[in-house]
Amino acid sequence: MRVRQHVNPLLASYDAFRGERPALPAGCPIEVEIGCADAQFLFERAAVDPRRTYVGLEIRTELVDLVNRRARANRLPVVAVFCQAQKHLGEIFAPAAVDRVYINFPDPWFKRRHVERRMVDDALVVGIGEIARAGAEVLVQSDVWEVALDAMESFERRDELFTNLAGEWTFWRAGNPYGVRSWREQNAEQTGLPIWRIRYRRT
Ligand SMILES: C[S@@+](CC[C@H](N)C(=O)[O-])C[C@H]1O[C@@H](n2cnc3c(N)ncnc32)[C@H](O)[C@@H]1O
Repeated sequence: MRVRQHVNPLLASYDAFRGERPALPAGCPIEVEIGCADAQFLFERAAVDPRRTYVGLEIRTELVDLVNRRARANRLPVVAVFCQAQKHLGEIFAPAAVDRVYINFPDPWFKRRHVERRMVDDALVVGIGEIARAGAEVLVQSDVWEVALDAMESFERRDELFTNLAGEWTFWRAGNPYGVRSWREQNAEQTGLPIWRIRYRRT
């Protein structure tokens, strides 16, 4: 199957929500990966704790289909939803419905004219603030310093919503606390790239 390398999230064609709302079992904790690609991270989480529901949000439809086929074939509690996460979190989840949010290795968009395509911005942080229950955890990780710093700035500016678990304006230095790896994370570790992590709690 051919999967597009990148799509431009700012295209007007992503303005309206065209994904399928997932059926979320009541009373079952929900973990969300924003920009899940193949959802390796969520499939590994589901193998560790199959009593939760794992929702991957992804803007590339081919990957959404791939993840949902794999989840059905293996009867795992993972579901992918096609969306533009900066715009559609509120269409997918009820307020305060989510227990944990992961943003693993968001696209770096290195070129100066593409920086505005980066995913972790004020709109995304406010959106996470709406769907995350009080006490919910957020992990962001990246192997690109500028991307991690940008993400930290977006969360720190919303200190009425989120508390940095390492202290204000501080990276989390104690590694990935969840014991499973996304595909990019595995790659960064194998090639010896530094990984910048930030962790927040919804206040
Ligand atoms: C570099 S990949 C990382 C994939 C995976 N999290 C990992 O760590 O291996 C970033 C993913 O985010 C998706 N993405 C980018 N912008 C998005 C947006 N606004 N909404 C939803 N997904 C997005 C991309 O299509 C891509 O699959």
